[in-house]
Amino acid sequence: MKVGAPLTLLLLVVAGQSSVVKSGDARLPESFLRCKRSDPDLNSCLHTAVQKAIQELKNGNLDLKMPPLDPLVVTNISIEDGAGRPVTINLQLNDVEIHGLSNAHLKAVSADLEKRYLEFQAEVPLTRIVANYVMQGKFLVLPIRGNGKCNMNFTDHDVTVRIRSEPLSMNENIYWDIKEFDLKSVNLKLFQVNFENLFNGEKELGDNTNKVLNENWKEFFEELRPTLHDTFGVVFLKLANTLFHKVPENEIFLK
Ligand SMILES: *[C@@H]1O[C@H](CO)[C@@H](O)[C@H](O)[C@H]1NC(C)=O
Ligand SMILES: *[C@@H]1O[C@H](CO)[C@@H](O)[C@H](O)[C@H]1NC(C)=O
Repeated sequence: MKVGAPLTLLLLVVAGQSSVVKSGDARLPESFLRCKRSDPDLNSCLHTAVQKAIQELKNGNLDLKMPPLDPLVVTNISIEDGAGRPVTINLQLNDVEIHGLSNAHLKAVSADLEKRYLEFQAEVPLTRIVANYVMQGKFLVLPIRGNGKCNMNFTDHDVTVRIRSEPLSMNENIYWDIKEFDLKSVNLKLFQVNFENLFNGEKELGDNTNKVLNENWKEFFEELRPTLHDTFGVVFLKLANTLFHKVPENEIFLK
């Protein structure tokens, strides 16, 4: 995570999350798959289990206090890029809905359970962000200003995730306390956006601006990428800890 990176300020709160570690010794729902630590093919067992868990958590889980994964609701994401970069855009997203994460397709999983380390690669066919935005700044040579509804589509997004945890002792059990949820975008096929009501609704200027953003989507994505990495890293770290602080590690990875 790069919180505190010089040019990026990020503020976010995940709706419905409690940040307090609640003591709990819940079990995984029966529908979840569990893997044995001693499984000689542990990685492929985890591959299936994690893939299934993503689908199971689509609508959230009350017992585990997990909010829905799809759509995932984030109160705000704030992108502030400043001096020292060729492009300056301040973009504030509020009431953010992220659609499509439950269609993530796991491509590879590798684990070192002794070290409480998990790594995976996934591809998300279409992630759709819908939010209210306030934007002001410059893209390439173009001034941009507006507020209203926006939509961002990420097509065929390859990401890697690295999860590092420390042991946490509670109620005579050991839990995973995830310290690092490192999410990286490694490849993106297409990024298309639509900002409504640019320039107080001046249609021609607005249409033209969306067109420029979409024609130069790689550059625009690079502007957002560091903040998106950090934001989603924090969001998923909280989500994952909600589960891992409730279910002891021996209930997840069987002896
Ligand atoms: C982000 O959301 C939180 C919680 O609703 C709010 O307190 C905070 O002011 C918001 N931040 C911005 C920059 O809008
Ligand atoms: C994003 O994808 C949805 C669903 O396919 C589509 O309706 C919408 O127009 C797309 N938005 C943009 C900006 O391409």
